[in-house]
Amino acid sequence: MLLADSPAAGADLQAWTARLSNMAYILAAVLFIMALSGLSKPTTARRGNALGMTGMGVAVVAAVIQAAVVSATEPEAHRGPVVTVILVAAAMGLGAVYGIWRATSVEMTGLPQLIAMFNGLVGLGAVFIGYNSYISPEHLDTSDAAMMAFHRGEVFIGVLIGAVTFSGSIVAGLKLSTRISGAPVLLPARNLLNLVLLGIALVLLIAFVVLAEGPWAWAALGVMTALALFLGWHLVIAIGGGDMPVVVSIMNSYSGWAAAFTGLMLGNTLLIITGALVGSSGAYLSYIMCEAMNRSFSSVLLGGFGTDGGAVAGGEDYGTHTEISAAETVELLKGARTVMITPGYGMAVSQAQYPVAELTRKLREAGKTVTFGIHPVAGRLPGHMNVLLAEAKVPYDIVLEMDEVNDDFDEIDVVLVIGANDTVNPIAEEPGSPIAGMPVLKVWEAERVVVFKRSMGSGYAGVQNPLFFKENSDMLLGDAKASVEALVQGLQTAEVR
Ligand code: TAP
Repeated sequence: MLLADSPAAGADLQAWTARLSNMAYILAAVLFIMALSGLSKPTTARRGNALGMTGMGVAVVAAVIQAAVVSATEPEAHRGPVVTVILVAAAMGLGAVYGIWRATSVEMTGLPQLIAMFNGLVGLGAVFIGYNSYISPEHLDTSDAAMMAFHRGEVFIGVLIGAVTFSGSIVAGLKLSTRISGAPVLLPARNLLNLVLLGIALVLLIAFVVLAEGPWAWAALGVMTALALFLGWHLVIAIGGGDMPVVVSIMNSYSGWAAAFTGLMLGNTLLIITGALVGSSGAYLSYIMCEAMNRSFSSVLLGGFGTDGGAVAGGEDYGTHTEISAAETVELLKGARTVMITPGYGMAVSQAQYPVAELTRKLREAGKTVTFGIHPVAGRLPGHMNVLLAEAKVPYDIVLEMDEVNDDFDEIDVVLVIGANDTVNPIAEEPGSPIAGMPVLKVWEAERVVVFKRSMGSGYAGVQNPLFFKENSDMLLGDAKASVEALVQGLQTAEVR
């Protein structure tokens, strides 16, 4: 099927479609930027998501129309518009079915692994597109030697970043899902090894650009891909499980840069813009998280961070803990003026946010001042606690960040630690502990602390928590949801003043 009856008319049609696509790409880019701005606050996050989805819809339609027009006006060089559209629809259909199934079936607590997997897929996509673009650089003038050399550079760097992202994300996903141990695997002279690998990649890049084609050029590309896959594995395997949140964020950033290089290879402006947006926002998020965890950004980039603390703490004798019942906790709350709730991963697992919201409502009705103290890496993904509390309709204005509350714990009568552990662990203040230097919520400075969890077991970082043994702390053992429901029940039957 031909959309234009002469080569000149075909070229005209292609030029017009390219112009319209570029306009659609600008619109999509603006929508993506507005989406990022919307996602920065819980109150505007839904709108941000909707804008992002609209932008992606505009981009996909524009890209498919452009591809269909090219194959309709150059049928001798392409498969024809019908086959092109069928192929694109089949790929998108498969992706959509799998994506919808995974996104709807995943537990909130499994989201970081899912994000890690998606990052990995972007990396793998960049590797495939890089190889494809090297074999058939269709949109380029192959007689322009300088342009082709530049293109080979883009291909090489895109494949390098893509392969690092792919293997690094797979390891991060496996660590997060505990399919492999979260303990860091440290090869001797690991930083030197990383530098040597990057040095070899640089030599191979020069060889690839100069050789242009033939078996040796292929060898340079193939060897670099294998080395990059190893480098991705090595960078992430050296990082301890407690520091995985930053790794997922940095892999997200890498996947953005891989996409940007894919855009350069394909001459697609929107992919360059989107990749740069993802790459830079991911890098900035990683930076914020590093600040929150008191880690150095460069050590994350080099891998193996969080592992220099020396001896792994644990097994120390902190004395005996004391337990408290739900009824006794109700009495404690009745006598309190100020209550702070510091939730963690256990609240997400037990889905305790709804009874927590109900408890908050009851306490506020009784005239107590209730606030929430949110640690930046509480739970298993950035903003995890904020999302759960918003879902349960806890008012935003009482949900405060760690920095806003950390100096005020001495004014709090009762802190309820609901399923949190590492984020309230005072051992972070001791040099040499695996979480040394990570800022934590100083809940122990409050008058009384009640810790809701099922056992005396450790948290994500695998470190014992001396908070549980402090004189002003009591353990309310059991599933967090059941315990909070018992408190709500207790407050309902008691007259709260
Ligand atoms: P954690 O240190 O993971 O501790 C959660 C606690 O919840 C556990 O000690 C567990 O104790 C308890 N728990 C589990 N299920 C429960 C249930 N049904 N009822 C009551 N308690 C339950 O939590 P955290 O303080 O939120 O710290 C987060 C950790 O995850 C940090 O180390 C962080 O670096 C890491 N991490 C964070 C992210 C992001 S981006 N937020 C991503 C990956 C990893 P029991 O088993 O005794 O009940």
